[in-house]
Amino acid sequence: MSHKIAYRVAHAATDTVKTSCIAVGVYEKQKLSNAAAQLDKASDGQLKRFLKKGDFSGRCGQYTILYDIPGIPAPRLLLVGCGANKQISQEDFQKIHVRLIKCLISLNATQAASYLHEVPVDMAQSATADPGWSTRQAVLACDHTLYQFDLCKALDKKRDKPKLKTLQLCQLEAEHLAERKQGAKQGQGIAEGINLAKTLGNLPGNICTPSYLAKQAKSLQKTFPSVKTTVLSEAAMEKLGMGSLLSVARGSQEPAKLAIMEYQQGKPGAKPIVLVGKGITFDSGGISLKPGAKMDEMKFDMCGAASVLGTLHACARIGVKANVIGIIACAENMPGGKASKPGDIVTSMSGRTIEILNTDAEGRLVLCDALSYAERYKPAAVIDIATLTGACIVALGRVPSGLLGNNEQLVQRLKQAGEQCGDRVWQLPLWPDYRRQLKSNFADVANIGGPDAGTITAAVFLSYFTENYPWAHLDIAGTAWKSNNDKGATGRPVSLLAHYILQNHAGKKV
Ligand code: BES
Ligand code: MN
Ligand code: ZN
Repeated sequence: MSHKIAYRVAHAATDTVKTSCIAVGVYEKQKLSNAAAQLDKASDGQLKRFLKKGDFSGRCGQYTILYDIPGIPAPRLLLVGCGANKQISQEDFQKIHVRLIKCLISLNATQAASYLHEVPVDMAQSATADPGWSTRQAVLACDHTLYQFDLCKALDKKRDKPKLKTLQLCQLEAEHLAERKQGAKQGQGIAEGINLAKTLGNLPGNICTPSYLAKQAKSLQKTFPSVKTTVLSEAAMEKLGMGSLLSVARGSQEPAKLAIMEYQQGKPGAKPIVLVGKGITFDSGGISLKPGAKMDEMKFDMCGAASVLGTLHACARIGVKANVIGIIACAENMPGGKASKPGDIVTSMSGRTIEILNTDAEGRLVLCDALSYAERYKPAAVIDIATLTGACIVALGRVPSGLLGNNEQLVQRLKQAGEQCGDRVWQLPLWPDYRRQLKSNFADVANIGGPDAGTITAAVFLSYFTENYPWAHLDIAGTAWKSNNDKGATGRPVSLLAHYILQNHAGKKV
């Protein structure tokens, strides 16, 4: 699975740090970062003389390695280009750290010291990034680059395991050491959560079944005593009247599972945040069968649930002082003799009847009952996460996740968290005008709203079940995984959710 390294935050001058490889930033036009300037001084101007030769432009992501420079104790000096401006963009900050890790892997380095996270970053809202942000995002970028998935490779094995064990995140300044240490800790917790979400997403549907996801929820409780997990069987869901959720699993040999994870480390009695994830471990479409092209990618249809598991893992690892509940609604959507048919009518836990006009609109059918279940927590807010509509990819592409909600403050806070961490969202309207598209002649509501505004009508369907609390919906159909050559789960939106919780529900702002 993922390659794990240790991050050590330290205050150290470039010419004293003990390492076999030291990484510093250099800008275009031979401008030096603070760390590079210190090295230039220690080497009696060697760095500047090298740059004068003109081979190294400083373009963002460019790199070169210089060996055994007199005056510099580290035998390898890794220069990484940071582009034209002293303040680099959030994207370029990520890029230089991806470059750093790729270089260290190809060098077979076991340890290194980096000053890259010290370069100032231009933030959209606040002027410059604070030290906590930089360290957190540096760790996230490094861990992202170190991730590999080869659990299912047997003979055609395994890319060489990276040799890297330790990365020292060094800073010149004496201040802000505590913030950086906290940032590193948060980064590592969030990165672990992202890695978990990636791996669960990447696992095939024949391994990662609803029961497998429920087991993962249980194993979270084993890893962290602060998490309490309950798994509801089909019989238990029957008793609760979850006719909508259960209908989705009818065509499958795999039983549906509803797993609930309670992490209550906030103020006792404080209303919790509830995260609800779509956990369709394979979406064939059911009787409304999908076309064959790229159908394998429907193993990723549980990425919402994976992001809930990942976020709870992150919260528990960091020890966030917040009350967070995770609920994952798990089922496999298959055709079969008992499967739902177009025209079937089911009764949801809320009592509302639903006409299933298309069995491929199954995500909303499992979510609505999980969302009704969430009411028992009297939540401060509920956020559901789902690979819900292909229409979301048509509308927004694969850059932001779709965001809709019934509470403007919650929506704004999610937007802000997304901008902060680079796991962005874009809001679509949830106006009641769209409700007419979901009218059914035979039941209270239909499960599809026709070809127009598919992402919105899916959210509008959910809005019938979320009237009793502040609620936001994240459609991650375009962001949860990548297709083609780098096919694989992204771990989104674990970073967004973790940042949202840290910023709004953990006491202190980050
Ligand atoms: N899981 C799919 C949505 C999806 C499709 C995500 C492609 C990512 C890529 C969902 O269950 C689904 O099938 N939605 C239908 C809804 C339609 C029948 C109203 C869709 O988007 O076509
Ligand atoms: Mn579907
Ligand atoms: Zn689906």
